[in-house]
Amino acid sequence: MESNPVGMLFDYAYSIAMALHSLAAVIWVGGMFFGHMILRPVLMERPPEERLAVWRQVFPRFFFWVWLSILTLLLTGYSTLLLGFKGGLAGGGTHVDIMQLAGLVMMALYVQLFFGPWQGFKRAFATGDLAKAAEYQVRIRHIITINLILGLLNVVVGVAGSLLGA
Ligand code: HEM
Repeated sequence: MESNPVGMLFDYAYSIAMALHSLAAVIWVGGMFFGHMILRPVLMERPPEERLAVWRQVFPRFFFWVWLSILTLLLTGYSTLLLGFKGGLAGGGTHVDIMQLAGLVMMALYVQLFFGPWQGFKRAFATGDLAKAAEYQVRIRHIITINLILGLLNVVVGVAGSLLGA
């Protein structure tokens, strides 16, 4: 901990940024874990019309939090690199480079999911085309599976990397 006031301010800002960064990661990755590992197996036992109706209501609520998490991860992650570490985009350790890369891939996949299959799902569901809606649901699930794996990896890399100072 710094003893001069400006240094202390940076320390506090860094702690707050990292706390928000971790909360955003928990919300996004935890939400995907719950959806994929817990909600999905339960819904698989329900008839398709019921299952798809639940997803139609669950996704918009979850996606709101994903957008918020992405915004928070980017703001806190890059402000830490640029203002905290002051080393530019590559100013962190190797673990931050891996996190950035995996994080940006996760975000790109999510944007594709949101503007691609999710919009298709909503359209198909609204017109009562449940077979088509189910196809889009499978595509959404595939992307969420990849993002869940990358997200879990990123949490391990972020925490273990910070501790090891890698
Ligand atoms: C995409 C842009 C991202 C940037 C620029 C970024 C940047 C950073 C930085 C600079 C740190 C501090 C590392 C250190 O103290 O050595 C950090 C920590 C961390 N990041 Fe990221 N990150 C990003 C995305 C993500 C994502 C997508 C996740 C998880 C889904 C994530 C999870 C974490 C975790 C869990 C920590 C450890 C916090 C701690 O223990 O203090 N980050 N990140």
